[in-house]
Amino acid sequence: MSETGEISSILNEQRLFSPSVGFSENSQIGDLETYRNIWNYSKNDPEGFWGRKAEEMLDWFQPWTKVLEWDEPHAKWFTGGRINASYNCLDRHVKSYRRNKAAIIWEGEPGDKRTLTYQQLLNEVCRCANAMKSLGVKKGDRVTIYLPLTPELSIATLACARIGAIHSVVFAGFSSHALAERNNDAESKLIITADGGWRKGAITPLKQNVDECLAESPTVENVIVLKRTGQDITMQPGRDHWWHDVVDSKSHICEALPLDSEHPLFLLYTSGSTGKPKGILHTTGGYLLGATLSTKFVFDLKENDVFWCTADVGWITGHSYLVYGPLSNGATTFMYEGAPNFPDAGRFWKMIETYQINTFYTAPTAIRAFLKAGSQWPNSYDLSSLRLLGTVGEPINPEAWMWYREVIGGNRCPIVDTWWQTETGSIMITPLPGSTPTVPGSATLPFFGVVPEIVDANGKPVPVGSGGYLTIKQPWPSMLRTIHGDDERYKRTYWSKFPGRYFTGDGARMDKNGYYWIMGRIDDVINVSGHRLSTMEVESALVSHPSVAEAAVVGIPHEIKGEAIVCFVSLDSYAERDEALEDTLKSHVTEQIGALARPESIRIAETLPKTRSGKIMRRLLRDVASGRDSGGDISTLEDTQSLESLR
Ligand code: WT7
Repeated sequence: MSETGEISSILNEQRLFSPSVGFSENSQIGDLETYRNIWNYSKNDPEGFWGRKAEEMLDWFQPWTKVLEWDEPHAKWFTGGRINASYNCLDRHVKSYRRNKAAIIWEGEPGDKRTLTYQQLLNEVCRCANAMKSLGVKKGDRVTIYLPLTPELSIATLACARIGAIHSVVFAGFSSHALAERNNDAESKLIITADGGWRKGAITPLKQNVDECLAESPTVENVIVLKRTGQDITMQPGRDHWWHDVVDSKSHICEALPLDSEHPLFLLYTSGSTGKPKGILHTTGGYLLGATLSTKFVFDLKENDVFWCTADVGWITGHSYLVYGPLSNGATTFMYEGAPNFPDAGRFWKMIETYQINTFYTAPTAIRAFLKAGSQWPNSYDLSSLRLLGTVGEPINPEAWMWYREVIGGNRCPIVDTWWQTETGSIMITPLPGSTPTVPGSATLPFFGVVPEIVDANGKPVPVGSGGYLTIKQPWPSMLRTIHGDDERYKRTYWSKFPGRYFTGDGARMDKNGYYWIMGRIDDVINVSGHRLSTMEVESALVSHPSVAEAAVVGIPHEIKGEAIVCFVSLDSYAERDEALEDTLKSHVTEQIGALARPESIRIAETLPKTRSGKIMRRLLRDVASGRDSGGDISTLEDTQSLESLR
């Protein structure tokens, strides 16, 4: 991709894999014609389609009067309707034959195990909701959740949903500083955390991070602390409360509040192309419908499935496919707390065998890491329970796709390569496993109700086979409603580049079969291990170090992570340039943002290459970082020496 907006694509993959007859016959959408008929209906009569699905799939306390009110770029779905997401995920199943079905099967990293039936989960959610109420949390208040991947993470989110509090889950891998930034933006009253979490046999000091965060976060009145790892921590009387003291003693009854369909369900922070993370706002009825419908059809959910999405609830994938989607469908969701390679590279495969997992949904970065660790690991376990595989988070390279199909799926399981974003709330472009023939590397066709179009810089549709900007032409129920506290940024980021369309920030191309090929971000966002990071955010972390004068950050292709972070810095004239500086700066970025942002390399330069107007020429830096010769135009470069010195 070049900076002129021209996008070229080099992939030319021909292999085609159709679902087996047996799989198709037993699936909900068993042939392409049925898919196309439903998709056409959803495109031509979106209100008819979504209204019908909302009625079929969700329980409402009060019916809506209008399916969609569209005042571009602001949507209201199911106006007048009253609904509760926690009720849909719990109570309605408890009233049915599913009452004693496993809702969550969980394994901790040390090997401890728990199973919660729908009734048990409902009881815990009600206790947690009552505890929050006793600490003064009211409808509309924000609650920050910073927990390891334990059942309590799902319990806390559903408890917020139950009483109309807005959860903001912050991934437990983020640093105290990143937590404080998110917490301050949300102005949360309560933080729910744990003493620590397990990761590769070590403890992540979550409560200690919260203590540091609180020094910068004045809005927090109370902290609930789950005892997970058991090391000594500081508890401030009056402010900090153990989960087992405030939750366990509460009543297991707490009515789900009938909320307006547009009542905010959660905020989830994601990186944009400027330094400040965006608080993506999702609301109740529309989001829940998107998550519920996509889980059912994309994963061709069966009543007895054990469904495993390996994402953390700290990301949108965990929100939609660990919590809301599976539970709203009354499914059994599997959850694992720790690292994939602990104590060895067979951990995931061992759990698939033990729990007889049927659907496995993970990220290309994980698949590449497994591929590298070697087929002997999966080959020593029985993976025959698997029926369906999924991937999400970044483009998957055909080699990883083929390995996933052959070694994990035994050439038997369809693979759904699902494209979507934090902003879209649920899966947007994806095969349906019983009907869509798949090609390695393509996310294939739009899901029901999704109308994508690839356009050029002027907003004109590009011809088949050409690369362009991926846009969405019609609103959909699980779309973001705004950016918390910054509606202007919402309009500018998503709706101003191409008026009348949602702009995804991704480049894509469509082939002659109508299949979509996602080519990655076209803005200053890098995708490290399936997680979006803004280059600006890393740059501001670097310049906050006293030795750094200027910084420029680029992403380069990486065998396992997809993209890796390379930083170019120039130093303050007083700075000591010693051996340890590179490591110091890497650690500094990790402290500021979290381990996921740890740079791959830091290059120290006299000056950074700039245009005459002072703009850092990232294209050149990307070439230098990946060892390419800069074939492109360097006539606008102010000082060609700077480029030479970097090489
Ligand atoms: C960005 C969204 C939504 C789940 C996880 C990431 C990239 C996501 C795919 C895919 C190619 C993909 C896009 C997108 N992406 N899925 N199947 N193929 N690229 O959520 O952090 O909001 O990032 O991830 O670039 O815009 P996110």
